[in-house]
Amino acid sequence: MTDVTELDLTDPETYRTTDHLAVWRAARRDHPVVLLESGRHGPYWSVTAHHLARQVLTDTDHFVSSEGMRIGSDPAAVAAAANRMLVVADGADHSRVRAAHARWFTAQRVNALGDALYRHLDVLVASMATGEPVDVVDVLADAVPTYVMGEMLHTEPEDTDRLSRLVRAAFDETPDLEDAAGRRNRAEASLRVFSYFADLVRDRRQTQPGDDVVSVLMRPAGRHRPLSTEEVLLNCDGLVNGGLGTSRHAISGTLLAFASNPDQWLELRRNRSLLTTAVEEVLRWVSPPMHMMRTASADVVLGDARIKAGDRVVLWIPSCNRDESVFPDPDAFRIDRRPNPHLSLGAGPHYCVGASVGRTEIRVLLRVLLDRVASMELRGAPVRSASTFLNGLDRLQVALTPIEDAGGEA
Ligand code: HEM
Repeated sequence: MTDVTELDLTDPETYRTTDHLAVWRAARRDHPVVLLESGRHGPYWSVTAHHLARQVLTDTDHFVSSEGMRIGSDPAAVAAAANRMLVVADGADHSRVRAAHARWFTAQRVNALGDALYRHLDVLVASMATGEPVDVVDVLADAVPTYVMGEMLHTEPEDTDRLSRLVRAAFDETPDLEDAAGRRNRAEASLRVFSYFADLVRDRRQTQPGDDVVSVLMRPAGRHRPLSTEEVLLNCDGLVNGGLGTSRHAISGTLLAFASNPDQWLELRRNRSLLTTAVEEVLRWVSPPMHMMRTASADVVLGDARIKAGDRVVLWIPSCNRDESVFPDPDAFRIDRRPNPHLSLGAGPHYCVGASVGRTEIRVLLRVLLDRVASMELRGAPVRSASTFLNGLDRLQVALTPIEDAGGEA
């Protein structure tokens, strides 16, 4: 068995070619926090245990996000966004920017979004449920978050599709794109996302600002000073980065979870009251984020490690979510698992601001599948994505057998 110290966890290919879950299992036992050296990004502390990751995420006296929340980010881009973009803001700046976001995510808006998504997905899933294999990544995984983003931004479908493709290009970690040309492609895609939002913000300023998330970000938030135009743009970027990639993998992961655990699909069909715990178990078992990073702002003890101010700490989320000291039988997918304190949506002040939307996407997908699909079957081995930041699939062939008399929701 390869030891975690012999593996380059910062190489995207690692996640396609090795049994990294087995390596992390041993790491949790032998050295749950350990100093590693990345050829690409230098030294960093690697954390694989749940309680240590939780400590890092919640201890804002010793760990900050404003130095970047993923290893390998462009330092200049992080410096430009620090304390202005939500996910890389700390302290009072974080509270101010978070308040501007939080106003959009009301239960009423999220419920309405869920109803619209049900109608959209019902048509899509009906067309997929033929008994023939379909590539879920191709047909469904982007379609869900892209539709949701369009509803949040009030953009036309072709614009949201383009935005979604650009966001994917901006984060493409495919190994053959590691050279200068790859970096240029990514930078170009990021710039185009920015310029898309610059046009959108200009447009919303000229017309009556509406109920969309960009207009809400532009409005003053209570006692806080309003976001500047540049802050609005940075946070539009943050929203699409946060909302598209993770959800994409949550959606394909939902299909993988149930297609490879047919007894759990039968159980959910028998007992829909398990939907809420099933959504949490999908989030845990799939673990869409691969890692999150923090930087120590002061010396601190973490487990048996002495972390120095300035050190970077990388939390491997799929490992924490399979920590056997927290989750009995952690590799099993069990839709009635409770409690389920997974870290897929983070913890502490940066806990996912879009969590209600992410959960709604999975829940609505499951409701549509329950109304339309009798059984699911894996066809061929899933192809994992090469990424250090997101944990997901590039390809997943599944055959969906329709319920014969399915006519959608009553
Ligand atoms: C299942 C889907 C989702 C997953 C697994 C997920 C995961 C996460 C995680 C782990 C964090 C914490 C990052 C950190 O601590 O550094 C986070 C933060 C965030 N997420 Fe999500 N997310 C999802 C859906 C969404 C959606 C739909 C949106 C927006 C529409 C969104 C927007 C954000 C933003 C803006 C933040 C930063 C929050 C802050 O720093 O205060 N996420 N998300």
